[in-house]
Amino acid sequence: MPDQPSFYLTTPIYYVNDRPHIGHAYTSLACDVLARFMRLDGYNVMFLTGTDEHGQKVEKSAQAAGEQPLAFCDRMSGNFRELRELLNLSNDAFIRTTEPRHYRASQAIWRAIAAGKSPRGRENIYLGKYAGWYAVRDEAFYAESELATGEDGKKRAPSGAEVEWVEEPSYFFRLSDWQDRLLALYRDNPDLIGPATRRNEVVRFVEGGLDDLSISRTTFSWGVPVPDAPGHIMYVWLDALTNYLTAVGYPDTENPEFTTFWPHVFHMVGKDILRFHAVYWPAFLMAAGVTVPKRIFAHGWLLNKGEKMSKSLGNVIRPKELIGQYGLDPVRYYLMREVPFGADGYISHETMVGRINGDLANDLGNLAQRVLSMVQRYSDGVLARPAPDALQVADSEFDALSAGLLDRVRPLVAGDQAFNRALEEIWKVVAQANQYVDAQAPWALKKANDTGRLELVLYVLAETIRRLAILVLPFMPDSCTRLLDQLGVPQEARDFKALVSQPLASGAKLPKPAGVFPRYVEAEAAS
Ligand code: MSP
Repeated sequence: MPDQPSFYLTTPIYYVNDRPHIGHAYTSLACDVLARFMRLDGYNVMFLTGTDEHGQKVEKSAQAAGEQPLAFCDRMSGNFRELRELLNLSNDAFIRTTEPRHYRASQAIWRAIAAGKSPRGRENIYLGKYAGWYAVRDEAFYAESELATGEDGKKRAPSGAEVEWVEEPSYFFRLSDWQDRLLALYRDNPDLIGPATRRNEVVRFVEGGLDDLSISRTTFSWGVPVPDAPGHIMYVWLDALTNYLTAVGYPDTENPEFTTFWPHVFHMVGKDILRFHAVYWPAFLMAAGVTVPKRIFAHGWLLNKGEKMSKSLGNVIRPKELIGQYGLDPVRYYLMREVPFGADGYISHETMVGRINGDLANDLGNLAQRVLSMVQRYSDGVLARPAPDALQVADSEFDALSAGLLDRVRPLVAGDQAFNRALEEIWKVVAQANQYVDAQAPWALKKANDTGRLELVLYVLAETIRRLAILVLPFMPDSCTRLLDQLGVPQEARDFKALVSQPLASGAKLPKPAGVFPRYVEAEAAS
């Protein structure tokens, strides 16, 4: 399809010092929903994830584990690769920053940045000496003014990470010269950074003036060597950000993957790493003469006991445990529905059970189950498509609710990444469908032998469930696949084009329905 639009979606690459926790899963799941949504909407999608394996943090963790850095990374990277199966991710590619192709790309971007001039006509990269604070946990440099002194007398970064004083020869990127270009970029591309509140924070930060950025380290060696500069390795963030280019074949910018996907790249990130993506990264790219991203969206944190989940705080929830307890699709739904995407939010057992038993079992599950079993019982499992003029006003009004849903949901998902609001819209129709069942009372139509009306009502309901199931597919792929199987929807008719243009056929016999959304039953308290 030559004119098929393209979409390139990236998760941050995960540090391999930790095993995946539910915070990592959250970013990956949001991307998976978006990737699946865009595929269903006709886009040629490339969805990338992977692991960030260099830097002091990883080197120290390898030492603590008594392993060589690469052996440690090989082992730990596998835990993230496994998320694909565990979370049913649809990523098309997985990258590791220790791959030779990534060394090539990172050194190439360094050379390209060094070859150009800053907007003020100066060298983009110069040799100097860094003397300042560094937080290994964040792999970030901090100015004295950003730090606070804790009760223990230790200086800490805004993230809470401990900082240490570092003095070493270092190459610097002349970020200060890129301030005006960055502000112009934000001004000319109002949708570049989302949500709007985060965009404003970035703009204010850049308006406040930018310091040049240290981009090489000399006191340890676990990183990509700086070209032609023995003893220097690249600052891990410069190497890490470049993964997005490596995966589409940079520095070969003529290859089809690069030309197809790079102009449409969307970076999904957590709010803690927005500055790297929305300030440093576009500046590096402009300096290297590479197109800047289309969009960068920063989501909030999942909080556990009021704090961001992290290994160092000891409050992590592992995805395996959560999925083992509640099931994959309920967890996928819950994480996208419970916390407004972009804001911080809490997760808890009580709200999880509320969503599973309310939204899933009682609302959508019950709707599907009762409609499909009535089709079996009253119409021998066969649907009959009514003539359009047989619909009464109440039927047409109800039918229009789900027919118009895609147009309401698309801007929320593809435009604003407001996944929770998209699900709210969809569930409004679920509620209206349950009301329609009660109002039309197919059991009464059966009793009254009004077969024509009975068939019509069941068809309109089944058709609504079909549209709902296709729209919810990106969020709960397995469950909705089973719903669509039960409705006899052909494989090739499970996308948004078919949602609009391929209503359920008449005459086919549907399989016996089976519940798709079981209730969560509390395990008996141990006596
Ligand atoms: N390696 C860097 C990213 C480099 S991208 C070029 C990194 N890795 S990370 O493993 O620490 O975090 C990866 C992502 O997980 C980040 O977007 C981060 O915001 C997200 N989360 C980690 N903990 C989180 C929560 N508790 N809640 C939500 N997301 C959080 O940063």
